[in-house]
This record gives sequence, structure tokens and C-alpha cells, in this order.
Amino acid sequence: MLQKAGALDIERIRADFPILDIEVNGKQLVFLDNAASSQMPQPVIDRIVQYQTSEHANIHRAVHYLSEKATSEYEAARRKAQRFINAREEREVIFTSGTTDGINLVAHGFGRKFIGEGDEIILTTLEHHSNIVPWQMVAQEKGAKLRVVPIDDHGEILLDEYRKLLNASTRLVAVTHVSNALGTINPVKEMIAMAHEHGVPVLIDGAQAAPHMRVDVQELDCDFYAFSGHKLCGPTGIGILYGKAALLEKMQPFKGGGDMILSVTFEKTTYNTIPHKFEAGTPPIMAAIGLGAAIDYVSGLGMDAIAAQETELLDYATDRVNRMDGVRIIGTAERKAAVLSFAVEGVHPHDVGTLLNEEGVAIRTGHHCAQPVMQRFKVPATCRASFAFYNTPEEVDALVAAIRKVQKLFGVKE
Ligand SMILES: Cc1ncc(COP(=O)(O)O)c(C=O)c1O
Repeated sequence: MLQKAGALDIERIRADFPILDIEVNGKQLVFLDNAASSQMPQPVIDRIVQYQTSEHANIHRAVHYLSEKATSEYEAARRKAQRFINAREEREVIFTSGTTDGINLVAHGFGRKFIGEGDEIILTTLEHHSNIVPWQMVAQEKGAKLRVVPIDDHGEILLDEYRKLLNASTRLVAVTHVSNALGTINPVKEMIAMAHEHGVPVLIDGAQAAPHMRVDVQELDCDFYAFSGHKLCGPTGIGILYGKAALLEKMQPFKGGGDMILSVTFEKTTYNTIPHKFEAGTPPIMAAIGLGAAIDYVSGLGMDAIAAQETELLDYATDRVNRMDGVRIIGTAERKAAVLSFAVEGVHPHDVGTLLNEEGVAIRTGHHCAQPVMQRFKVPATCRASFAFYNTPEEVDALVAAIRKVQKLFGVKE
């Protein structure tokens, strides 16, 4: 029915993802755990194989052919990431091992240098643990305080409360672009502008946004933006941290080692220029090149087309699940991306997840590394179906049918 939703030809796209063809428990796989990690298309797999079979050597170190080839492909991947988020300069793009690593880099490089006793860091209730714990560590070490913006019953940030929290002691705002637990799209552009009125820099956790919508860091005017490759059809172990050059220049390195230096004596080390100052040691070269290929792939489809397709699918899923008796959607924000969190009355989320797996349907159950969200909604866990552009309405139907089966099995519905 919605097979040709938006401008994307889903059937053709699905043919690029060999893993979507596998069977689980004798049933066709229905993969709805994309917020945890999305799947990799054949062109990305092929690019990785090509790199490993004909281009691999360590980078930035030697003058031989393979090292120069690997270096130029690694740096080309950086430029692809730069274009993908519209960063002004290539040197503002740092390869990390993922969103968590990017946030920790800012916590150590910026936080430990510029946050002190009595200072405040603003977070929101919607944050993933990886955008809470690093700030808690900095706050503990420096005697700073975390201030948390509350959310309403729909899972939307209370902007007036946020406005009240911004003050002369605020040193940083760290906020997620899209909530991984609820799917809420936060009004980050507005939040950034409000923080800047107080001269406060803003870090955006883009782990759940970069795979689902066009991100333009210059338009947002964010100071830092972090995301992961493995949620964007790329490999694990790679991610991007964008930072404004002027801030990155002032920050201290997070890790010391090879490649991040210009000169070393036992008395003194002079650090390399950005971005290399933040890329100590041998980086995940293959993963960076794979991420470049993943960026090519999704950019080829078009981020606006991906967003349109996924919105249509999420609307369809929301409508179908809303019509089910005994199933409650958690997170009903007006603007959402790709995530449907729900509870099945009378059945523990882990039982729902286990029984859905028997039907070949892969969803995530648990606290989704966002325990404050669970506390806010007074649930220990939720069931979470999360979509990618290659998912179909038929897969949503399979999810609904599987939930019905669970309800029957538990006798919570005829
Ligand atoms: C919103 C959000 N932030 C951060 C992360 C951490 O990403 P990674 O594990 O790739 O570092 C995730 C992963 O689920 C996430 O959803």
C-alpha cells in the first residue's frame, strides 16, 4: 500500500540489504530495532571489502602507495561527513568511536577545562545515559551542578522551564536532537539560540537524528554535534564529533598518543592542529571509510526523502497501534522521528520482546539507556519499535499481528 511512499522505491532499496532476507524462528525477519543499530547495505559492505583487499595500510605515517591511498580515502571520508552535516570546515570534523566517545571528548576537552566550582550544566530529562554520565563525572570532579529541563506527559521539553534554568552560571547545554526512548524531536534550533543569548555553548547529541533527517550544523548554529556510524547504515566503532573550530582550538586533548602531536620531548609536547589533536593513535580507518560509503548511500537516497518516508511509516504504525485495545503508546510528542515506544497492558515488556522474536519481529525492550525517561513515565521499561527507511507497512502489520498474539497468549485480550 505505502510501498512507494515518498520518493523512495522501498523494494529496490530492500534488495540492497542482504540481512533483511534472513529468517528468524522460521519466519521472515522484521527488523524494527534500528534505533539501536541499523543494517548495512551491500555498497557499504563492498566498500569495506575493497578497502581491506586493496587499500589498507596505516595512515598519516608513510610515503608508500598503500599508506598514501588509505590516508587519502580516510580524509575523503572526513570531507563526506563535513558535507553531510554542512560543517564550514573540514578540520571541524573529528572521527570518534561513536556518539558516546564524542560526548566524552567534549566533557574532557571542554568540560574539565572550562567548567568549575558552582558552574551549571543544563541537560534534559530526555537524555541517553551517554549524555548524562560524562557530565555527572565532570560535575563531581569540579563541584559543578547538573540542571535538568523537565518534559510534559507527551514527552516534550518544557521550553519555559529551560529558559528559567539558563543563567550566568550556565557553562554548557547538552541536549539530544531526537529522544531514543520516545522519538521526540526537540526544538534544538530554538534552544541553541536561547543559550547563545547567554553566551552558553550547546552540544547536540545527534545519534537519533543524523540517520533520519537533514542536519545542518551551520543552520542550527550548534557548537558541538555528535553522532554514530552504526545507526546510519555504517560500521560500529566509528562516529563523528563536529565542533566549531574556535572552540576546538581552545580545548585540551582527551587522549594522548601518536598522531595528535607535532613534537615530543620529555619536557614538553606540542599538540597537532585540529582535528588531529583529538585523534590519538591509529584510528578505525576501515570504519571511517565505511562510514563515508554509508553517507554516500543515504545521501544518494536523499535525507529529505528518508525523513518523509519514515514519517509516513511512523504515522501508519502510530495509527494502527492506537487502535489496539490494551496497548498504550508512550511518547506522543507532536514532532517525532522513527520511534514507537509502547506498553502492553498486563504483559512485561521483556515477555513481549521474547514472544515477538518468536514471530521473527525484532524490537527492543528495556530502559533504552534512558532511565530518567522511564522514571518520568513511571514504567520500568517499554517496548520500542524503531524504523528505518527500508521498513514497510507490511512489517508494521506483522508487528501488530504479533502483539495481538501476545495478548491472546497472556489472556489479556480475546
Ligand atoms: C540518543 C542517543 N545518544 C547516544 C547514544 C550512544 O550511541 P553509541 O552507543 O553509538 O555511542 C545512543 C545510542 O543508542 C542514543 O540513542
